[in-house]
Amino acid sequence: MLFENEYETGGQMAEVTGQRSLDQERIANFYHDLFVKAQAEDFTKICAPGLDRTKVVVDVGGGCGFFAAAIARDLALPVRVVDADPVSVEAAKQVGVDAIVGDALQWQPMGDESSACFNLILHHLVGGGEDETTRLQMRALERWKGRAVRLFINEYIYDSWLTEASGRLIYGITASSLLSSLAGFVSRFVPSLRANTFGVGVRFRGEHEWRSLFEKHGWRVAEYSRGMEEFISLPRRLLLIRSCRRDSFVLVEA
Ligand SMILES: C[S@@+](CC[C@H](N)C(=O)[O-])C[C@H]1O[C@@H](n2cnc3c(N)ncnc32)[C@H](O)[C@@H]1O
Repeated sequence: MLFENEYETGGQMAEVTGQRSLDQERIANFYHDLFVKAQAEDFTKICAPGLDRTKVVVDVGGGCGFFAAAIARDLALPVRVVDADPVSVEAAKQVGVDAIVGDALQWQPMGDESSACFNLILHHLVGGGEDETTRLQMRALERWKGRAVRLFINEYIYDSWLTEASGRLIYGITASSLLSSLAGFVSRFVPSLRANTFGVGVRFRGEHEWRSLFEKHGWRVAEYSRGMEEFISLPRRLLLIRSCRRDSFVLVEA
């Protein structure tokens, strides 16, 4: 667990937050830049215009710094990565990005930021139940209130045939050790059901579910970009998934 102990975070100390975190071995699955091109294109299109070019774009949960490096290279904006995984932070430093180990749930903005990016991190902020999970996801955004920054959110969207059932089902399975063991067994024969979050939990949501959560918590969706539809295998359709894609939102305080 990443948050069992306090650790150095560039002058800030992270404490236990109630997040159910992935272990280092599973986080290593995210050391890739597969989604950076689409994320950087969305950021360039919907978030960058009008940003103060002297201020820092912070990538919260920015992993190995691939997105931050692309923004620095393509847009010549100053960047910073904050991530809870020290190995990722070291990798980000290696590619020349200013990077700090820190917890998105407790991060104190430094005051020099123009925007805070959350690329594929919110669905990992899961707690012991639905309510706690929602609180954690919204708490990460709350840290940026009163700072006049634009929030850029890139998230997996799971729209469902039945209200918002798919995200709930996936969370129910991945957060339960018993259901995760069963799903892990089934996924040996049905590879498209594999998940590296079994036993910890992951909380995806539909587009409208995210929008109403943002609005309920004092944010306005100022810009939006809908991602490309991803293929949904037959077994995954059993989870009532109607559409799966990566969308981007720009939030400002309402
Ligand atoms: C799915 S990876 C996404 C990495 C990268 N942003 C991307 O889009 O490819 C999630 C990242 O969030 C980080 N993370 C998870 N919980 C965090 C927290 N509470 N505070 C900071 N980073 C966190 C993980 O270490 C990991 O690097």
